[in-house]
Amino acid sequence: MCGIVGYIGNEEAVPVLLNGLAKLEYRGYDSAGISVYHDGICTIKAKGRLAVLSDKIVGEGTVSSHVGIGHTRWATHGAPSDRNSHPHNSQSGKISVVHNGIIENYMELKAFLEENGYHFVSETDTEVVAQLFDFYYDGDPIGTLQKVIKKIRGAYALAIMCNDHPDSLVAVRKDSPLLVGLSHDGNYVASDIPALLEYTRDYYLLNENEIVLLTKEGVTLYDLDGNQIQKDIFHVTWDIDAAEKGGYDYFMMKEIMEQPQALRKTVFPRLTEKGINLEALSLTEEEIKNFNRIHIVACGSAWHAGIVGRYVLEEVCRVPVEVDIASEFRYRNPILNKNDLCIIISQSGETADTLAALREAKKQGVKVLSIVNVVGSSIARESDDVLYTWAGPEIAVATTKGYTTQLSMLYLVALYFAKVRGTIGEERLQQCLEELRLLPEKTSEVLKLDAGMKELAKKYAQSQDVFIIGRGLDYAAAMESSLKLKEISYIHSEAYAAGELKHGTISLIEEGTLVIAIATQEKLFEKLVSNVKEVKARGANVIAIAIEDSHAMEDVADEVIYLPKSADIFTSSYNVLPMQLFAYYTAVERGCDVDKPRNLAKSVTVE
Ligand code: F6R
Repeated sequence: MCGIVGYIGNEEAVPVLLNGLAKLEYRGYDSAGISVYHDGICTIKAKGRLAVLSDKIVGEGTVSSHVGIGHTRWATHGAPSDRNSHPHNSQSGKISVVHNGIIENYMELKAFLEENGYHFVSETDTEVVAQLFDFYYDGDPIGTLQKVIKKIRGAYALAIMCNDHPDSLVAVRKDSPLLVGLSHDGNYVASDIPALLEYTRDYYLLNENEIVLLTKEGVTLYDLDGNQIQKDIFHVTWDIDAAEKGGYDYFMMKEIMEQPQALRKTVFPRLTEKGINLEALSLTEEEIKNFNRIHIVACGSAWHAGIVGRYVLEEVCRVPVEVDIASEFRYRNPILNKNDLCIIISQSGETADTLAALREAKKQGVKVLSIVNVVGSSIARESDDVLYTWAGPEIAVATTKGYTTQLSMLYLVALYFAKVRGTIGEERLQQCLEELRLLPEKTSEVLKLDAGMKELAKKYAQSQDVFIIGRGLDYAAAMESSLKLKEISYIHSEAYAAGELKHGTISLIEEGTLVIAIATQEKLFEKLVSNVKEVKARGANVIAIAIEDSHAMEDVADEVIYLPKSADIFTSSYNVLPMQLFAYYTAVERGCDVDKPRNLAKSVTVE
């Protein structure tokens, strides 16, 4: 988490930095700060949202400068406070640093620096970098950075200013994202493209431990040993509007409504007259036929997509699939075999645990196929194969279009593999391809539930607890729906496999408890009706989500939301949509900051 930005050029640095930070606030918003050069390094920082910093800058009188670094923080080491805010400066005041990541050996480095007369003012790991840089500094920023990198352990994207080099900035990354923006008006670094899209479409994507020296005139890249390296420019084609709210109150609603378009972009180029085309894959037909087991690894909503993926892959490919939470996978000494495939799912492509799981799989010699949204992200670059979900930038912390495009990609992969493995008949395959073609259109249809879900949200927004139940694929939807609701509305919510409720949790159901029953699986529908009766008998209010034509729910539930009919495995693309809307409107009704829920950040680049 945390967002960093740096600029050197002809323009005034302060507005460039503040604009960039505004676009990066989704990465953390505990505090923000900038350092610019104006007769020496001048640092201004403040606890709280970026607006607090902006007011402080206006209050103190904007500083004219053409070089600077900025940071928006998601607190790890040290509580949110002015003191722990970035940038952190060395005690000499000569060095200023912004950092995204965690310096794991900061305690031992701190002790070493204290022995050498350095005093620390913050509780952060980052301050160690500023002091260590100062300790080694010999007038050569690149050489000093090389020495620092060799001493620090952990994850870092760093941008650094030196007082005696106001004509340059240095930066480096390892395990945390950082890219370099190039323009005629100057050069930039940032954690993510939207921060710089207003200024440039041309970027260098940095690999692990690549160092960059930025001046007004140009950018020089070095490897860890100080050798100059060359890189191709990565040109961004997507529109700046895609990263703006486009008339919606919150990014989340914009992104919910963008789902039909995102699905069209993700699915249609891969559907040809001859079937599914995943030509980008380097996996051979022989390898696909020989997979003994598939491991899907991801975090949060992407993990929920993985649970749907397991169901679909097992159903159509007849191959055993394991789904792991990335932070658990890497520490459980997973058993991986040569003929296994690891599928990594990540919207951002930067989630630290997911990246570490990918590396673990590769270390064990297993092929890695990743499903990623952010082009050129670390996970995309380190995988053997990457399939991009073309959802466009997702800014709201709670994923929506990221999730549903991941599902669509999993359908494509499963059906493609099934065809190669000969585990799907032609008739079923054609029926599934037709479902895929209809995905954007049916999604638009379901999103028309908008007004109805708003009304329901108003009615139930003051609920204390919400239980969301389902079976099979509906249980995966329940998990995703519950996460969505709790993360943005702060209502306590639990997802339960409907049949499991009576093994303990049903004791929490009392008069007026809200239960949402997702019942879109035809073969499990009657079982769900029975489960709804059980909770109704204990006084619950029940909202049911069912398929049109299945009117039996009307007799038992208080409210029924209908979805269009689709082949069973595709219901996952629809059953979550009304719940995205319900979570959104509940959060709005409760006055929550929908796009930036408390304690969260969009891209989780710490373990
Ligand atoms: C929840 C949410 C998170 C992410 C998770 C993984 O709405 O967005 O749970 O799904 O942090 O992020 P990515 O997909 O970027 O690896």
